[in-house]
Amino acid sequence: MRVPPFVMERWQSTFEHRVDYNISESGVHPLMLSELLELIDLDPGDVHLEYGQSDGSDGLKAAIAGLYDGAGPENIIATTGGAEANYVVLWSLVSPGDRVVALEPTYGQTPGLARGLGADVVSWKLEEALGWQPAPGSAADVITPGTRLVVVTNPNNPTGAVLSESAMDEIVAAAAAVGAWILADEVYIGAEVTGPETPSFWGRYDRVVVSGSLSKAYALPGLRLGWITAPAAMHEEFWSRKDYTTITPATLSDVAARRVLSPEVRPRVLERTRGIIRANLPRLTGWLDDRDDLFSYRAPDAGAICYVRYALDINSSELAERLRAEKSVLLVPGDHFGMDHYLRVGFGNPAAELEEALGRVAALLEEACAAVV
Ligand SMILES: Cc1ncc(COP(=O)(O)O)c(C=O)c1O
Repeated sequence: MRVPPFVMERWQSTFEHRVDYNISESGVHPLMLSELLELIDLDPGDVHLEYGQSDGSDGLKAAIAGLYDGAGPENIIATTGGAEANYVVLWSLVSPGDRVVALEPTYGQTPGLARGLGADVVSWKLEEALGWQPAPGSAADVITPGTRLVVVTNPNNPTGAVLSESAMDEIVAAAAAVGAWILADEVYIGAEVTGPETPSFWGRYDRVVVSGSLSKAYALPGLRLGWITAPAAMHEEFWSRKDYTTITPATLSDVAARRVLSPEVRPRVLERTRGIIRANLPRLTGWLDDRDDLFSYRAPDAGAICYVRYALDINSSELAERLRAEKSVLLVPGDHFGMDHYLRVGFGNPAAELEEALGRVAALLEEACAAVV
């Protein structure tokens, strides 16, 4: 299997720890271990660093299942991040020549890996003019007979948009009409700016698989703890793949995640995330609105990311590289989502950091505009 380069992930992993200001992240600034330990009751003397239960401890599977209507531990496999969840699901479901429909722009792992597995990946567009929704009625045009899998990231990365109920209904109806699987990557659920938690695809159709994670809404990417929620009949199939990847989630992360997802702790963690998002989004949008000759955007519904279009005759990778090299600021160019003249700006950093980073972006843009004039 030859996988196409996952350009965004490599861009971030190469530079995120080597710049002064990293605004390439899609989550809020992560918790310190000390903050986590204040939130959860963890006696180190009770934590045995053995191999854990390989599909997740019973307590963790029960806690994750509690997030999904009608799910039980038999529906859950705990994984090493949402990334392993997506990997295992695609590896199981996709064979060479399969038709896979990807609702895009999206996080590049799922379409990239599907291509690597030999699938014929069809891009289905979210329309900016429709608030980053698919065109009404388009689901059935693209999810045609023979489609094996539809991959959907909801809330979306990079746009932060949440699918409307009618778009979700259309996706499910079109997939059901042809027997296609749906992989719903829902790692941003819980990180809504305002409004209720984004509804899950879980329970809408019997061929739905969901991936989730503690990395975004729970601000704990370093725990590397994710999960698959799937029909019980698929548990063995996915688990048998996981035996070949990471065997088991990190034991310490399993113990911590069980507590983070408890009814007492979960709301507090999510409130921290939403508080940061609510406080910082106006900082970013105010900055963008002050430059409305240059920028246009639709504010995100969820996640600490804003997908911004800019009106400058500079390629987005070139602009991002100049920002990195000349201003030590890292963000994600639209090229990484196959869309030039966009930038994905993360705004989950501490406020002072965000403002300093934006100041440096402004300085570079002024220089770039002066050079054009
Ligand atoms: C949509 C989406 N899915 C999965 C991941 C991977 O997340 P994790 O850290 O849980 O592996 C990311 C990370 O950015 C993401 O944006």
